[in-house]
Amino acid sequence: MEVKKIGVVGCGLMGRGIVEVSAKAGYDVTVSEINQELLDKGMNAIKSSLAKAVEKGRSTEDEKNAILKRIKGTTNTQDFKDRDLVVEAAIENIELKKKIFKELDGICPPETILASNTSCLSVIDIASVTKRQPKVMGVHFFNPVPVMKLVELVRTITTVVTGHSKGSVSRQNERHALAPSMLAASYNSASIFFSPATNKNMASPKFFQT
Ligand SMILES: NC(=O)c1ccc[n+]([C@@H]2O[C@H](COP(=O)([O-])OP(=O)(O)OC[C@H]3O[C@@H](n4cnc5c(N)ncnc54)[C@H](O)[C@@H]3O)[C@@H](O)[C@H]2O)c1
Repeated sequence: MEVKKIGVVGCGLMGRGIVEVSAKAGYDVTVSEINQELLDKGMNAIKSSLAKAVEKGRSTEDEKNAILKRIKGTTNTQDFKDRDLVVEAAIENIELKKKIFKELDGICPPETILASNTSCLSVIDIASVTKRQPKVMGVHFFNPVPVMKLVELVRTITTVVTGHSKGSVSRQNERHALAPSMLAASYNSASIFFSPATNKNMASPKFFQT
């Protein structure tokens, strides 16, 4: 199954960038925040970033509007119940991330991949609160997300890797920094693939679940 619907938890610095590049790559994106004020702040930042791209001639007004149409903001985590992949980009706090993953595990269908954008925390520790440890991984974007093309896929000892792309994430418990154009990682019956960026100034992730 191809991933079509992405959820992003947190519309702060990283979350809003992940939302922007995912919507720009054609995905239907739902992003959550803890309250309406922070959600509006994040959504406004996404709108300004897209408007700046139009001003600089890197995008058109029609493209900007089409991208914005693919983004939905929410303060209700239940809205992640139809997502194929959820990327958590909340603050760097292990207890908070565990709480979020436990909640997502109860809301999302069993096939949904749950990923954390954590820089330093243990992904296996986060995965431990879920009943889907083979489907939990790190997807680590870099700042500023719309510019940085590098994305790290982080596999834990319980993330199950199958399929053609084992080589790209072959060693357990290690972080693998790979150019997005090289990434094609399969997790259990799911796979995530980052396509080459289509715009030299814009990271363009492509996610598949099979
Ligand atoms: N800032 C960086 O350069 C950078 C780079 C790579 C990775 N990261 C990682 O990305 C993650 C996010 O970092 P950031 O810099 O975007 O932080 P940030 O503080 O800018 O944004 C985090 C957002 O998450 C929101 N949030 C907290 N709990 C939430 C919940 N339960 N539901 C929905 N939203 C919630 C907060 O309100 C806040 O707006 C961290 O794990 C961080 O380590 C950061």
